[in-house]
Amino acid sequence: MSLLIRGGTVVDTTHSYRADVLCVDGKIAAVGPDLEAPPGAEVVDAGGLLVMPGGIDPHTHMELPFMGTVASDDFYTGTAAGFAGGTTSIIDFVIPNPQQSLLEAFRAWRGWAEKAAGDYAFHVAVTWWSESVREEMGILAREHGVASFKHFMAYKNAIMADDEVLVNSFRRALELGALPTVHAENGELVFQLQRELLAAGITGPEAHPLSRPPAVEGEAANRAIRIAEVIGVPLYIVHNSAKQALEAIARARGEGQRVFGEVLAGHLVIDDSVYQDSDFTRAAAHVMSPPFRAKEHQDALWKGLQAGHLHTTATDHCTFCAPQKAAGKDDFTKIPNGCGGIEDRMSILWHYGVNTGRLTPSEFVAVTSTNAARIFNLHPRKGAVEAGADADLVLWDPNGERTISAKTHHQNVDFNIFEGRTVRGVARRTIAAGKVVWDDGVLRAERGRGGICRGR
Ligand code: URP
Ligand code: ZN
Ligand code: ZN
Ligand code: ZN
Repeated sequence: MSLLIRGGTVVDTTHSYRADVLCVDGKIAAVGPDLEAPPGAEVVDAGGLLVMPGGIDPHTHMELPFMGTVASDDFYTGTAAGFAGGTTSIIDFVIPNPQQSLLEAFRAWRGWAEKAAGDYAFHVAVTWWSESVREEMGILAREHGVASFKHFMAYKNAIMADDEVLVNSFRRALELGALPTVHAENGELVFQLQRELLAAGITGPEAHPLSRPPAVEGEAANRAIRIAEVIGVPLYIVHNSAKQALEAIARARGEGQRVFGEVLAGHLVIDDSVYQDSDFTRAAAHVMSPPFRAKEHQDALWKGLQAGHLHTTATDHCTFCAPQKAAGKDDFTKIPNGCGGIEDRMSILWHYGVNTGRLTPSEFVAVTSTNAARIFNLHPRKGAVEAGADADLVLWDPNGERTISAKTHHQNVDFNIFEGRTVRGVARRTIAAGKVVWDDGVLRAERGRGGICRGR
């Protein structure tokens, strides 16, 4: 099966150049000028389009069992929606319950992911500590290609990792050559602030950001960084949303520490006024952790991307419909935390990043795809337009426009946090494993066609 992409401009993390791309049997076979179409090849005209590595969303939670419910986008609907926006791979999270075997949880997630339309890899969360956890981290890293272990510093009385877990797990990650990652929020502070707000009768979604102020994130980011410093292990901090977290990352990097930062498309463009909406459904639809923040934090996040202190863009795609969010009607701490975005991440980054001059097209490729592939050991199989890489590509139309809406999106959720925004810069065609899966408005995703990706 071969596909020739003809007449486009290839963009990678260093430059742009006119070249055709030949895909054979799911891999890129050649990149160069005026390639011949093999007999029987499908030819796609990429005139006027940019040919970039398919997006990698390094932070998703498809069909996650969480806060008494299950995220509404599953591995099929979620990866298919990604295709519509130019994203071809995800890295999702296996989250064992405390006391649960990591391998048992890994097998459960791998089973759920069999329905995925696109490729996927997994981070595995360490939510408790014992000798068996230590051993299973080794099996996951050595036999299953797990490159990263995640630690939730929030969600006390559920999946929170305390300092004892962090220290033990970071040490083990170092031994294994794996990368520790953290959700940085001080879970004890969040817990106590939530209790105080509820006791004061502040029970609606407007209390959510009050229970998780920026300093709560700054403290945890800095603590994780300093623990990593003592142990001598690199660190990746997911969904940075606060200026204080960025300052901690910039400081550590300036001191020579290897710290990587991720930012969500939503945190770059949405502010905390969403929690003041008098309509519960709309306010609750924005409840995620860390919360959307005041404008000064968005400015800091953009500068962090530009300065190279933030390396990847993600979505934390974790969707819940209005009836699910309604579980917290009388108590904001019971609103399932999570928002969507996999379909819109790349357009949001292009529109607000490239069109404004904050990012070059090559920097866009780095922060939407290649950096994630490099950090999580998927490069050069993913995140590269070169012979031998997987044929996962997006044919990007920098002049195409669309208006984002839950009425037209492909995500299996009744709300879109980017509703009504008109963006310039869209995925015209998306190619996954050498096949056109998003064809100028027509989704051709196939259930189960994705596979687990282990990098090299
Ligand atoms: O609110 C969020 N982010 N939900 C998903 C779980 C997490 O913390 O990433
Ligand atoms: Zn190049
Ligand atoms: Zn998180
Ligand atoms: Zn998450």
